[in-house]
Amino acid sequence: MGILPWRSRDVIDPRDFTREDLEILFEEADKMRRQLSSGRVARTLEGKIIATAFFEPSTRTRLSFEAAAKRLGADVIGFSAEEATSVAKGESFVDTIRMLDGYADLIVIRHKYEGAAALAAEVARVPVINGGDGSQHHPTQAMLDLYTVRELFGSVDGLNYLIVGDLKYARTVASLLRALSLFKPASVMLSAPPQLQLRDEVRRDVESRGLRLEYVKLEEGLSRADVIYVTRIQRERFPDPQEYEKVRGSYRITRRLLEAYAKGSAKVLHPLPRVDELAADVDSTSYQAYFLQASLGVPLRMALLNLILGGEAS
Ligand code: CP
Repeated sequence: MGILPWRSRDVIDPRDFTREDLEILFEEADKMRRQLSSGRVARTLEGKIIATAFFEPSTRTRLSFEAAAKRLGADVIGFSAEEATSVAKGESFVDTIRMLDGYADLIVIRHKYEGAAALAAEVARVPVINGGDGSQHHPTQAMLDLYTVRELFGSVDGLNYLIVGDLKYARTVASLLRALSLFKPASVMLSAPPQLQLRDEVRRDVESRGLRLEYVKLEEGLSRADVIYVTRIQRERFPDPQEYEKVRGSYRITRRLLEAYAKGSAKVLHPLPRVDELAADVDSTSYQAYFLQASLGVPLRMALLNLILGGEAS
């Protein structure tokens, strides 16, 4: 099928992609990494403009997209807060997207409301990439997560995954599970405080796609896992701050805990940012893979931009 399935495509929901799409993307990302390490990146997107429309805070997603675009020779326009746009003067979201559609060749969007990226894709003629919408989807993070696993273990298949933390509000979890359902994990274990369990609609959806979920105690999950995926409690998504206070600090992955229970070959991933759920003393252990994960965001997003915008070298 080749790279054509990616051309001019929106990236909104991980369920829109096949395993073959992801394998094409990972191979393109490998190519981008080879170019980055050789210091000779083909400027395949020269003359293109990428708009980053971030209505919600971001460090990694926005800046890695911007770095990716610039590495490929594209120009970047955009904003990193709603207050910096005319939305603050009352302009509608739809009108804002219409403007960007006229200014750029591709829009990357993040918004606190679920469905905002899908709406943007309906309005815009240019491709739209979802950089996170509410608690719903974060498709490029899931692609990056699986690309990192492939880099660490040589394959996404056949591994034992433990997902720890805020399974209810973390969009990275919903997207990772949907992306994992395209592969053949040996097991997918979930460990979360009672208040932060996976939402029913996500559970039903991924189970209907053949993913078998196991609910485990943290120590059991740690002892069996190859990939330990930790998430932050998404304080900003709680409708009631008092509910957040009830779960705050309810789990913490530390070096001591890993050394007591985890396999020596296990790797800890985290989409970041972290707060207190992942101790800094894990950073210097062999378990730590989250900084590699963050750094692979640039070649992975270079690959996405190149495939969607039809960069010549792809
Ligand atoms: N992983 C992630 O989405 O990080 P940012 O919120 O910093 O973009």
